[in-house]
Amino acid sequence: METLAVHGGKKVRDTAFDKPNRYGAEELAELKEALEQGTLFHWHGQKVKKFQSMLAEMLDVPYCTATSSGTASLHTALGAMGIGIGDEVITSPITDMGTVIGILFQNAIPVFADLDMRTYTLDPASVEEKITERTKAIILVHQAGNPGHLDEILAIGKRHNIYVIEDCAQAWMAQYKGQYVGSLGDMGGFSLNEFKHISAGDGGAVVTRNPELAETARIFADKYADRVTGNREAPYLGPNYRMTELQGAVAVAQLRKVHAICERRTIIGDSINAGIQDLPGMLPPRVPEGGTSVYWHYMFRVDEAALGTTRDQFAAALAAEGIPCQAGYKDKCIYEYPLFTNQSIYPNSPFPLKSMELEIDYTYGAGMCPQAEAVLASSVVIPCKEFYSDQDVQDIIAAIGKVATYYHQHPVGI
Ligand SMILES: Cc1ncc(COP(=O)(O)O)c(C=O)c1O
Repeated sequence: METLAVHGGKKVRDTAFDKPNRYGAEELAELKEALEQGTLFHWHGQKVKKFQSMLAEMLDVPYCTATSSGTASLHTALGAMGIGIGDEVITSPITDMGTVIGILFQNAIPVFADLDMRTYTLDPASVEEKITERTKAIILVHQAGNPGHLDEILAIGKRHNIYVIEDCAQAWMAQYKGQYVGSLGDMGGFSLNEFKHISAGDGGAVVTRNPELAETARIFADKYADRVTGNREAPYLGPNYRMTELQGAVAVAQLRKVHAICERRTIIGDSINAGIQDLPGMLPPRVPEGGTSVYWHYMFRVDEAALGTTRDQFAAALAAEGIPCQAGYKDKCIYEYPLFTNQSIYPNSPFPLKSMELEIDYTYGAGMCPQAEAVLASSVVIPCKEFYSDQDVQDIIAAIGKVATYYHQHPVGI
């Protein structure tokens, strides 16, 4: 039995993983053209328009509005749907703040449903339980690039006559039964932030098949000004979530690469799944039937009892083998953040979580979604990058195998 690197043995991997520049001549050429237009305003330029039409065509949807971020795309979807004061929106407890920011800015209420512990996406049974007469929408987060249980969630939406928004920030080009995520729900939101499959520094997009939602989304994200009719007299409150031509230019170049990036990540993630599935105590992510994951990162879980050590000790030993990794994706579920536990959405008011007028008082805290909390407590995250070589992938599998086998044979007590 090989000595673990954490005990002074030889590392599986003693060179750093490559980190090439994701931007190159294609982005430079698009940026040059954008600047040569003499305008960086989307309505006057061509780059944002090009990005919108390219993405719509790729996803096979008729409508796309570019936005300034993924957060903006989800807020825009909620705004287009008319979600407002006191409405409930069901979503995932393990996600970025960007999923809930729009809900709260609309003075609506995030309601957290529990997760399927093998896919990390919304558990349809838990979603069903959370539905009340106030529920207006579900935001299904395709966590870590894994498509959610779309058939079941869309059926719940239909049955209760509520909207389904797909949060595709981590799931560019993930597929479900032959269609791209984002194109299946009422609306889909995408992020182009620095950490996503493709990036424009920041940016996003909201897509839909519904012409009325598309029309309102376009106007909502532009301060409720309608550039087509010229009507600038806002009937309602809307933010400025416009994408600039600089972002649009980079986004166009990045979009040309998105299929290659996502296909490679699928191969890498699926290979690690196959490579570790029979190892003691390893619980690789499960891709739903008919789905294709694009592995935003590679997140798997450990069964500490079967493994023979704690998740934290396992992650430390894996890191010592030269594999970049972290114990857990986030420290806490989002409902454990102070703005929820203190009911402090605004510095001077608990609204909308607590309101005498609306007769509501939503409290949040640890224990609300036990399966999601167990996912965070038992998961290990390894970056999954399209530029990893086959040897890199083999090293990741070998290191996980070395550490899992060692602890299985030398249990250390949990
Ligand atoms: C699942 C999810 N939703 C929404 C967002 C928000 O995207 P952005 O940072 O572009 O606003 C992120 C970003 O990290 C995310 O991972």
